[in-house]
Amino acid sequence: MQADLDRIVDDALAAFAAAADAPRLEQEKARFTGKSGTLTAMLKSLGSLEPDARREAGAAINLAKARIEEALQARREAIANAALEARLAQETVDVTLPGRGRARGTLHPVMRTLHRVEAIFRSIGFDVADGPEIETDWHNFTALNNPENHPARSMQDTFYVEGEDSAGLPLLLRTHTSPMQVRYARSHTPPIRVIAPGRTYRVDSDATHSPMFHQVEGLWIDEHISFAHLKGVYTDFLRRFFETDELQVRFRPSFFPFTEPSAEVDMAFTRGPLKGRWLEISGAGQVHPTVIRNFGLDPERWIGFAFGSGLERLTMLRYGVGDLRQFFENDLRFLQQFRD
Ligand code: PHE
Repeated sequence: MQADLDRIVDDALAAFAAAADAPRLEQEKARFTGKSGTLTAMLKSLGSLEPDARREAGAAINLAKARIEEALQARREAIANAALEARLAQETVDVTLPGRGRARGTLHPVMRTLHRVEAIFRSIGFDVADGPEIETDWHNFTALNNPENHPARSMQDTFYVEGEDSAGLPLLLRTHTSPMQVRYARSHTPPIRVIAPGRTYRVDSDATHSPMFHQVEGLWIDEHISFAHLKGVYTDFLRRFFETDELQVRFRPSFFPFTEPSAEVDMAFTRGPLKGRWLEISGAGQVHPTVIRNFGLDPERWIGFAFGSGLERLTMLRYGVGDLRQFFENDLRFLQQFRD
């Protein structure tokens, strides 16, 4: 009995010493103290002994088990240490490198503008709607009184998408948020007060244009909504957005197929490299009767205004940014300035 135990312990110590890594070591352990290990088998056989003999044999087996476990633990530590030593020898730490830090992200300045615009219009009772960036030709142009082959379409050259709508007409990346006027008005009953912010696309790129940019559409349709309401609402919006009454803003006569009369809204920079220069921030006007009809409404009864503003442009004016493309270059040194 004691001889058997000594042999098992010797075997175990030799096997542990020969195990080169942790998985191997655990496998070896199983051979002795695992469910069907040799030492476990001896423990199981205790049941058939007389009480005195059982006590004696049990003590001897436990002693053997303790020796095995001690050796196992020592070998585990040795293997772990060796692995750590090997890693330390392999990996070098350059303590002169700067720390990585943990940067806190911030909202993109254009998104900040979007949230501010939403909050202001919500506070005067406007709904906020979202719409598709891939539009049908009908919603983007035709319904807005911009018929096929009309030269005004070329003012908004865009990106066409493969495939077509159910009428077989082309699909495109929307050139403005104005198609949302049509979508929203056709699915709601007047009075209608809504803004629809989102991404828009054109084949354009210079200091004040980017192929992808953001607009916010505004639409107010009721029985007596005039151009004067447009001026009042929009000017009030600008005062709240720029947090000052001292704004240099002008409404300049313009043309859009979907509004009559139409205006463009310009605002002057009061800071930054473009200080003193005017920037167009919005197209606007009284919604054209044909468009009202395309809303599914009677133009003899329903009337109102629409506007579409460039969110990058509002952001440029607010912070005095001279080049719109900076918003999309993702240079952190630029973006991190907008933390107010
Ligand atoms: N959709 C026009 C544009 O992007 C702006 C506009 C909107 C003009 C609503 C009039 C009314 O240029």
